Amino acid sequence: MPAATDSETAGLHLIGRLLDPASRADPYPIYAQLRGLGPVWIEQMPAVVVTGYRDCETLLRDPRLSAERWRHGGSEPEDPYPPDAPPSVRQPWFLSQDPPDHTRLRRLVSRAFTARAVARMESSIGRLVDHFLDRAAGRDTFDVLSGFAHPLPVTVICRMLGVPPADEHLFREWSSQLTRLVDGFLTAAAGAGETPAWVPGMVEMHRYVNDLVADRRATPRREDLISELIAAEDDGDQLGHDELVATIVLLLVAGHETTVNLIANGVLALLRHPEWLAALRADPGLAPAVVEEILRYDPPVHLTARIADQDMTIGEVRVPARSLVILLLAAAHRDPEANPDPDRFDPSRAQVRHLGFGFGPHFCLGAPLARLEGRLALAAFARRVQDPRLIADPPPYREHINLRGVGELLIAHAGV
Ligand code: HEM
Repeated sequence: MPAATDSETAGLHLIGRLLDPASRADPYPIYAQLRGLGPVWIEQMPAVVVTGYRDCETLLRDPRLSAERWRHGGSEPEDPYPPDAPPSVRQPWFLSQDPPDHTRLRRLVSRAFTARAVARMESSIGRLVDHFLDRAAGRDTFDVLSGFAHPLPVTVICRMLGVPPADEHLFREWSSQLTRLVDGFLTAAAGAGETPAWVPGMVEMHRYVNDLVADRRATPRREDLISELIAAEDDGDQLGHDELVATIVLLLVAGHETTVNLIANGVLALLRHPEWLAALRADPGLAPAVVEEILRYDPPVHLTARIADQDMTIGEVRVPARSLVILLLAAAHRDPEANPDPDRFDPSRAQVRHLGFGFGPHFCLGAPLARLEGRLALAAFARRVQDPRLIADPPPYREHINLRGVGELLIAHAGV
């Protein structure tokens, strides 16, 4: 093995600091130092870490990179599921597939998960936002995370799919467990022979969704996303049963914790920048600009990853086939070449450049829904919560590296 270059040694040191929980509250100075090094090779993973905006954007649409992250290391991962798990649990998500499978599945799902389907949720989301904010009434302190940001997105997607309200609590429980899966590829995996903590929740969720799909096939409903996914057709092609179940689980998992963090990171940014909280209260029309700036400044997804399908060069780094390519999106957002004065929270920027929903063929399918929820939630928070103040700053952060979010967001207030 050739000796590590100075840049590799510095990069390894910075990645070590990033993985240290003490950095969770403010990883941005470390991102800036990493960006100063350009793409960095980490032999131990082996992986290249990319932090520049233009590099991340270019690589997200580079066909030499594969989204099949599980191929990292070159061998098939162990099957963690029990033998009696429904077959849909082994169906790959299109988030982690390449063309032509990805193209086909994404096209079919897009037929049902349309802008119209999202827009017709607006009044229902507005009512849910008010319902969860009502919980703050009559209390001096309120945890914005557990009382508001966390229950909202899972309830919204359950309503959109047509899950009976009495069963929504099951989904809240499962999606919390499944966050570990989304974060899995960078944190320590379960030891040999151990079942990862998220497996039981995943299996139960698949069982439930299998039954729900069977029920909707027997009795389709108007304006429910499951019935529309069943009916979705592209050139005579349709989603198979397991593809359909896996896709519904993907929508729940990909859309939950991310939107929770958009709302919680957004409330935090507004509380730390009271001039913008006041501006949003005075003019709810600012909500779209506030949401875009949060997606740039403190995004819910800090990184994504790909696998190099062939030997390639990124910047000055030679990347052998099958290496992991880690794209630090949150570092790219603060690249001054993309966004001037990047460390400033400023929703009045003339142009906000961010990769908060990814870019290219895997661009977030749920972006319109997430944006709508973010806008309604933050505008209502600003309008209704009187004189909100942070009780702990910084709040405690969760351990995740790629999904960034707080574990609690306690505020004091003067009424809702
Ligand atoms: C993909 C972020 C909400 C469904 C992605 C990707 C990102 C992202 C960064 C690309 C991942 C990659 O390229 O590796 C977010 C953020 C959200 C959010 C920050 C909230 C603020 C949602 C919601 C849903 C959703 C609400 C659905 C209900 C998906 C799906 C994909 C995806 C299905 C895969 C798309 C594909 O592979 O073609 N999201 N997401 N997301 N997201 Fe979201």
